[in-house]
Amino acid sequence: MSGIRKSKKLPFRELAFYGYVEIAATGRNRPFRSGSISCIKFFVPELTVLLSRDQIAQRVAEMAADITRDFAGQSIIFVGVLKGAAIFLSDLARQVPLDATFDFIGVSSYGNRPTPSEDPAGHAAWDSLGEVRVTKDLDQSMTGRNVILVEDILDTGLTLNYIQKLLLAHQPKTLRIAALLDKPSRRKQPIHAHYVGFPIPDAYVVGYGLDYAERYRNLPDICVIANP
Ligand code: IMP
Ligand code: MG
Repeated sequence: MSGIRKSKKLPFRELAFYGYVEIAATGRNRPFRSGSISCIKFFVPELTVLLSRDQIAQRVAEMAADITRDFAGQSIIFVGVLKGAAIFLSDLARQVPLDATFDFIGVSSYGNRPTPSEDPAGHAAWDSLGEVRVTKDLDQSMTGRNVILVEDILDTGLTLNYIQKLLLAHQPKTLRIAALLDKPSRRKQPIHAHYVGFPIPDAYVVGYGLDYAERYRNLPDICVIANP
């Protein structure tokens, strides 16, 4: 596994591409009127690259090779957890030359959490509410199948524990978890992932499928977001 490269800030050009640009310096983060001209200042979050697109590509290829080796000669089904795992699943699955199908499950675990700045508890606001709700059920039966559950990030473990129980009720032949990121220091419920991309420190990350309030999923790198 490749090590985590020294962090760097995203260049202004890239921030501009993703729309993180100040249109006018208003000194506040809301629309204002100046004379007859309406100006908007977008909030400019601080994004620092934690894992570059090259590091991610290299590690995903290694994980795909592990899965290919472990399931040689067998059929598998990738079950992606919407929406965060969509990009990881598509990159991973295309490098596994086995007989494979896809399914997706949608869950909501964070509900309407407040942003850290709105919540005096700060970091605690990122915690799972502990309530997992299925928003999109599986389309197929998992009975007797080799299931690879694909998730973007393992945090408290509450979401994956819930999904794992739900899948085990189908009585699959095998059930393995592939998680791109893992924040072991945040775990509340033990969970074992067979394939883990990168253990990362306790920080809120976005990009490569991961969101903050549904944004930044399309960033090609994984970035730490400060003051989201
Ligand atoms: P858990 O139930 O606490 O393990 O939460 C897992 C889910 O929380 C993941 O599937 C993500 O959707 C979300 N999540 C946890 N940490 C982060 C993060 O740092 N950035 C974005 N989403 C996160
Ligand atoms: Mg997720």
